[in-house]
Amino acid sequence: MPTFEDADFGVTAQGAPTKSQEQKTESSQAVGQNGASLSIPADGHSSENTIEVPASRSSVADVSHYMHNLSLSPSMKERRGSRNSFGTSLPIPKSKRQSRLSSVHYAEGGKPTRPGMPPIQPTRDILAGQVQDLQSEKVKAAKDMAFVFDIDGVLVHGDRLIPEGQRVLEILNGDNELGIKIPHIFLTNGSGKPEQARVDQLSKILHNPISTDQFIQSHTPMRALAEYYKTVLVVGGEGYKCREVAEQYGFQDIVVPNDIVAWDPTIAPYRVFTDAERATSRPRDFSKTNIDAIMVFSDSRDYATDMQIIVDLLRSENGRLGTIAKDPVSQRIPIYFSQGDALCPTEHPIPRMSQGTFRIGLEAMYKALTGVDLERVVYGKPELATYKYADEIITSWMEQIHGEEKLPPHVYMIGDNPASDIIGGNMYGWNTCLVRTGVYQGEGNDKENPASFGVFKNVYEAVTTAIKKELGEDFKFKFDESINPVHHGDGVSAIE
Ligand code: G3P
Ligand code: MG
Repeated sequence: MPTFEDADFGVTAQGAPTKSQEQKTESSQAVGQNGASLSIPADGHSSENTIEVPASRSSVADVSHYMHNLSLSPSMKERRGSRNSFGTSLPIPKSKRQSRLSSVHYAEGGKPTRPGMPPIQPTRDILAGQVQDLQSEKVKAAKDMAFVFDIDGVLVHGDRLIPEGQRVLEILNGDNELGIKIPHIFLTNGSGKPEQARVDQLSKILHNPISTDQFIQSHTPMRALAEYYKTVLVVGGEGYKCREVAEQYGFQDIVVPNDIVAWDPTIAPYRVFTDAERATSRPRDFSKTNIDAIMVFSDSRDYATDMQIIVDLLRSENGRLGTIAKDPVSQRIPIYFSQGDALCPTEHPIPRMSQGTFRIGLEAMYKALTGVDLERVVYGKPELATYKYADEIITSWMEQIHGEEKLPPHVYMIGDNPASDIIGGNMYGWNTCLVRTGVYQGEGNDKENPASFGVFKNVYEAVTTAIKKELGEDFKFKFDESINPVHHGDGVSAIE
């Protein structure tokens, strides 16, 4: 399996790390500077449900590259999203859910049974697949490939459909000569609302069914962190949607910036706090509460307030507002970001700043105030943990649609951002396709992070080219019932 090296990202570590990647400290505090590690707490959590994935990045805070040149570098390597503090681990959920077939026992007759449960009924998709198996080797090849879609800039621009995106999903959902589903999942650095709400919105825009079981947004794997921290500050997103996300992930005690402003409005001197916001916030005496970690789940809607509160907490003694730590490193609470994209394609013609630029700003402020680098952890593409989690989701989705819990050997990532989609996919050994409908607008292939399968005008060109490579040049992107009477499912597979 290919691995991520610092050199892959154009990063030179400054000084040797003080801890090995596996080594954990006894507390949640960061240790050391410039090459130090930030370890998740070892105490008080069960590892039954999580896998700790070593961070793939160096010890160097991004800010050092921008301190004397705040304009974005044209180099995609330097624009790429996240460099995690050396030696950190990124916990991910062990599996999205229990395999539906994992409790299947094969009795002597070879019939699958589940003790105490009704017999398994094959889905229409599985039936279709079984019949087709007899007809064509192409079915096997179709199950041996999978697509991983970036969303913004590939399938949609904000709430606006990219029409080729709709057509591609129709093909993959069964409108193809085999009449079967070709496996695909969605892997977005998008964020800010619960998974169900986001897939409902996307299904509507794309006119195709999308299940949460085939969907990963930037903060989805961060549900694993609920086992590690009790009281967390959750930042970003509209209104209180990210509080809702954190609740669904199982975090026990969730604080949002509004709760803190409602407790002490002087903490954010430029904030105009409305009566409605006050009424919906949950103030308490934060001078008596330790916040264990900061989770930036989504883009800040109020940089001034959020940055002030985050910097206050990072400079505090163990997350206690109103204090300033004597040692800015050993008493600092950890901070996590759900993704590191500098830019995001939206309805606006020029891509907008995203969490990566927000983080760079924070790092600069923190360094200016304390003199030390900010150690932090960044999830999302192109971080290794996110790709490992994608494997889990592809595998379980394969089981849902084809009854085969396996990872297809030929995975195609379709993305618009060389600095996250393409570099991450390349490092993980996937075939990568770069499309021109989003962030990337350059000539030819990207110079720093070239897509391994090529550059395409849009997602339709990319997907049909990949399918032809795997299933034959003559493959038809239309289901013809007069030739093949087997109906494919018209929605997400379900036991009938
Ligand atoms: O950069 C923020 C996010 O909206 C990007 O989403 O789908 O392109 O990974 P996506
Ligand atoms: Mg994108």
